[in-house]
Amino acid sequence: MLGIFRKVFEADDLGREIAAVALPALLGLAADPLASLVDTAFIGQIGSVELAAVGVSISVFNLISKIFNIPLLNITTSYVAEDNVAGCGFEEGIPLTEAAGKLSHFIEKPGKSEKRVYPSVSSALFLGSSLGIIEALVLLLGAWPILRIMGILDDSPMRLPAQQYLSIRALGAPAVVVSLATQGVFRGFKDTKTPLYATVTGNIVNVVLDPILMFSFGYGVTGAAVATVVSQYVIAFILLVKLNEVAVLIPPDISRLGLRRFFSSGGLLFTRTIAILLTMTLATSMAAQEGVAPMAAHQICMQIWLAASLLSDSLALAGQAVIADFVARNNGQKVKEATFRVLQLGIVFGLIMGVILGLGGQRFSKLFTSDDLVIQALITIIPFAVLTQPINSMAFVFDGIFYGATDFAFAAYSMIVIGIISSAVLFAAPSFLGLPGVWLGLTVLMSLRMASGILRLGTATGPWQFLANESLEIDNS
Ligand SMILES: *[C@@H]1O[C@H](CO)[C@@H](O)[C@H](O)[C@H]1NC(C)=O
Repeated sequence: MLGIFRKVFEADDLGREIAAVALPALLGLAADPLASLVDTAFIGQIGSVELAAVGVSISVFNLISKIFNIPLLNITTSYVAEDNVAGCGFEEGIPLTEAAGKLSHFIEKPGKSEKRVYPSVSSALFLGSSLGIIEALVLLLGAWPILRIMGILDDSPMRLPAQQYLSIRALGAPAVVVSLATQGVFRGFKDTKTPLYATVTGNIVNVVLDPILMFSFGYGVTGAAVATVVSQYVIAFILLVKLNEVAVLIPPDISRLGLRRFFSSGGLLFTRTIAILLTMTLATSMAAQEGVAPMAAHQICMQIWLAASLLSDSLALAGQAVIADFVARNNGQKVKEATFRVLQLGIVFGLIMGVILGLGGQRFSKLFTSDDLVIQALITIIPFAVLTQPINSMAFVFDGIFYGATDFAFAAYSMIVIGIISSAVLFAAPSFLGLPGVWLGLTVLMSLRMASGILRLGTATGPWQFLANESLEIDNS
């Protein structure tokens, strides 16, 4: 047993490479919810109407990020890794060796500065700024109808603070999307430290500005929004300055960007995200139908579940960056090694998280509630959250593996099938089992995600054909 642990955690080149990407990424992933927590604490001091209003606006932003911004980030990582290896001349249809031969053509200032043109970097920035401007306009012009859809009616006391907050935060959208795209670029370079540095700096700016603008100047909710937007532009600025040191941001030739692959992969990830969101929304609505206490228990268990996934999430994105790099190098042996290593790490981390939740789950949940009815409901579902940890972890890691090999099509189409099957369980099971039926459905969802990964790699189909070859040559055609 110990031998296996030692092997999985071995600090060989591969182990160190994965850790060097995963650790800063983990801190970066943890920084965002922490910053929101601080924000929430400040706004809570103004009053609960304001807190509720801001909560609604924030969930609008989170939804937009999930559907549009994060897919752009994830896609960018894979394509930048490709360009980085291919000597920055990679284009669709051009064999890697030939693309590498174009290196000289793409170096703007040869020599010390070594600033290079990466078509995917420019594409990501172009798409990020366009998307950000569109989001800002839609949120500014559509603040009213959007809030109404979110359930804030015209005569609600939340209406004014929610609209003020949403409209100001809308101005930050371009900075947010460009930052995320740039973060994807740095991940493609296997650098998660620079984004961490930018995020932490920005969050500190926010935390410092919050009390000054909200209380010293008395701007309240508006002050909170302004502080956040300022910090978002600080993050974008730092990231762009850092990126500008190594890459040409605006390409000499716009027509060579190769936006097509971004759009097709983006469409696939969009489909995939919608399939997941619909399934999760169904889970929430089935839980809500069980009553107030079960819904509260569901909400608490969900938060614990999400917090527990941070570790595997950072492992997934490290896996993506490292695998994308080896795929671009055509090194099937290394792709195979990295794939199995991140899967092993995923299982081990999942087991560790399961043990932590198993030992502390009850105690964690008491932090959120003292209501006996809620606690009773929680006791029936916490075991699902505990036992699924290794499964969740593998499911996340498989995402990283798929994205690393730009296997976006399989990630999308398999998710549609998985979403349909799990939704059927979510529909049917609660009528027999109550709230645990909802968690049975979620368990089916995560198990099928894991199974789809095993199936894809086990059958060596799509980009994984090389796994079946003796020579482990990747067929890049
Ligand atoms: C995609 O990006 C998100 C946001 O940072 C991250 O949580 C997730 O792990 C990434 N997915 C993969 C497979 O790298």
